[in-house]
Amino acid sequence: MYLVVLFAHSIVRWVVLGCAAWAVLSARSGMRSGRAWTRRARVPGIVLAAAADVQLLLGLSLWLFLSPHAITQGVRSHYWTYAHPLLGIAVVILVHVGSVRVRRMLDDGARWRTAARFYLAALVLAVVAVPWPLAGMGRRLLPF
Ligand code: HEM
Repeated sequence: MYLVVLFAHSIVRWVVLGCAAWAVLSARSGMRSGRAWTRRARVPGIVLAAAADVQLLLGLSLWLFLSPHAITQGVRSHYWTYAHPLLGIAVVILVHVGSVRVRRMLDDGARWRTAARFYLAALVLAVVAVPWPLAGMGRRLLPF
């Protein structure tokens, strides 16, 4: 079970990074062109939130139960037990807070700007959260 969830979590990282980049580019292009905020404009944010939620669920099951570094297991690691999960949770919070704020705004320009800021912050944190191969706690780019 551990390896299956770790495999999925590793793959979904690319979905999260890709969707975050898409959401940022789409919000920046809306901001520059000054076009109206339509239902379609919400799609990148909704897809990003769904991907981030899936990654959160996989990450939580690793963190709570499955990983050797889970908080219920003996092997604590500064990176895997604390730093990485906190960064991951911060990514999910940014995506959701951004979407809620955008939904509550009335001005289209402010919507594009807010979406661009929150999704860019989420993208940057997601990049920082990834254990890139050359880092001390690095893992492979793909799990196969
Ligand atoms: C944007 C969010 C996240 C990204 C991009 C991400 C990415 C990754 C990657 C690439 C790995 C290594 C997979 C491998 O070994 O092949 C990993 C492992 C792990 N992640 Fe995340 N993660 C995110 C969110 C989270 C969250 C929210 C949690 C917990 C609440 C979490 C907990 C863990 C744990 C416990 C491991 C496994 C450590 C081990 O068993 O060695 N992650 N993550």
